Amino acid sequence: MRQVEAYGPAMCAESLSGSVTIDPADHHGHIDRRIFGSFVEHMGRSVYSGIYEPTHATADADGFRTDVARLIEELGVTVVRYPGGNFVSGYRWEDGVGPREARPARLDLAWRSIEPNTVGTDEFVRWATAHRLETMMAVNLGTRGIQEAADLVEYCNIPTGTAWSDLRRANGSANPYGIKLWCLGNEMDGPWQTGHKTAEEYGNLAAQTGRAMKLVDPGIELIACGSSGRDMPTFGTWEATVLSHTYDVVDYISLHAYYEEFEGDRRSFLGSGAVMDGFIKDVVTTADAVGARLGSDKKIKLSFDEWNVWYQSRFAGAEDFPLEVASPRIEDVYGTVDAVVVGDLLITLLNNVDRITVACQAQLVNVIAPIMTKRGGPSWRQTIFYPFAETSRRARGTSLVAATEIATMATARYGDVPALAVAATHDPGTSSVSVFLVNRSELAIDVDLRHEAFGALKIEGVYTIAADDSGPLYGETAAAVARPRLTNAWSTDPVGRTSLRLEPESWSTLRGSTQDAS
Ligand code: AHR
Repeated sequence: MRQVEAYGPAMCAESLSGSVTIDPADHHGHIDRRIFGSFVEHMGRSVYSGIYEPTHATADADGFRTDVARLIEELGVTVVRYPGGNFVSGYRWEDGVGPREARPARLDLAWRSIEPNTVGTDEFVRWATAHRLETMMAVNLGTRGIQEAADLVEYCNIPTGTAWSDLRRANGSANPYGIKLWCLGNEMDGPWQTGHKTAEEYGNLAAQTGRAMKLVDPGIELIACGSSGRDMPTFGTWEATVLSHTYDVVDYISLHAYYEEFEGDRRSFLGSGAVMDGFIKDVVTTADAVGARLGSDKKIKLSFDEWNVWYQSRFAGAEDFPLEVASPRIEDVYGTVDAVVVGDLLITLLNNVDRITVACQAQLVNVIAPIMTKRGGPSWRQTIFYPFAETSRRARGTSLVAATEIATMATARYGDVPALAVAATHDPGTSSVSVFLVNRSELAIDVDLRHEAFGALKIEGVYTIAADDSGPLYGETAAAVARPRLTNAWSTDPVGRTSLRLEPESWSTLRGSTQDAS
């Protein structure tokens, strides 16, 4: 990206102009559908009264809400990380299998609640499979270790003939689950984590556990915990140390990041996509430096397995929560600006598909989630639902390099960031070309989109969400305000150029096609 000028709060221009060039031959690589992942943790009302509520009017024979399942399908989720999160660091997976009446209720230390174990591995995986969702399983490396993790792989993936696999069969699943993606613990760098470890301790345990798990099933892919945020004091050294222990056994290093608007500083908040991009580049550099030092040809991939907008600064911690089953935890309600930022974070993921092949928005239902439910009542889409659904539906095939020229804008928190972020995708199979654009600035941006290499595009429409000042939007109001609206602020020519006017602080998607464009 070439940036052509800088503007700050004092600048008096009425609009900015920029250009974006796309070419089918210039791309970041194939988009792995697993970047449209999500996350279900045993936390708050994510499971109980979220995906699962046997007394609900829409519940299926297994007790799962079909109204929620329908929204998940509409959202376009491909893979779901489970069962945590901080929760997994105290979880005994054996508590959640077998006859329900024999399952213990346990104290969950992470979120200070009671886990009834009504839903466990079998119920979750069967539900996910029925809805064509891939399960990404996390093992407990906080309070447990090698044996319990290897046992869980055996329970899930060995067909038959061993104690754990035969137990799965006795519990109703004759066929193995074939779970491919496995997280080696969660956020083990965080002092809040039950069983938090130093990078040396964790790296050593993750390597040993990963080796045992791959002995059980050599076909699995392993994700080592990276830092729980770019601002962790151990960021960088954590990744380098962990990977120096695990390089030959793991396939991925994880990244986690949550963004929010601090003290009304919307401009910095709108720069979150640029911050996420810097984080990704830093992790790639660190991982590749370890590979170079080890003389390895292998490239470690990135699993951005927790990302979202979360107003974490308003979260006082779990200490004062009542000890109950499924009482609410961090049920953030989102506004339009949050949808714009989520759209931008998805653009960032698309622009890094050369290394990111798994990503999970955290979380899926009720807990900082695109989908909300009322116990015994309706379910609805939050504002952040829309950019995810649109991006998952449209971003297929290859992620193109969107060569962008635009001014930078000054932010108080993150310095200068480009005022415009763009990702573009091309699916030769269906001829679709999609362009996702975020105008991070308070000024309109006139974009000259150059697609001469494709020739003319047939444009089905340009859809927009613009940030406003209405704040959090409850219930159905979110849909009324944030559903992307069709705009007519564009024109295209037969040679291969399209002009677009982007509203201030907005996210847009251009739905195009190379077919019948004349
Ligand atoms: O998604 C909520 C929590 O955020 C997860 O449990 C944890 O991994 C992260 O800190």
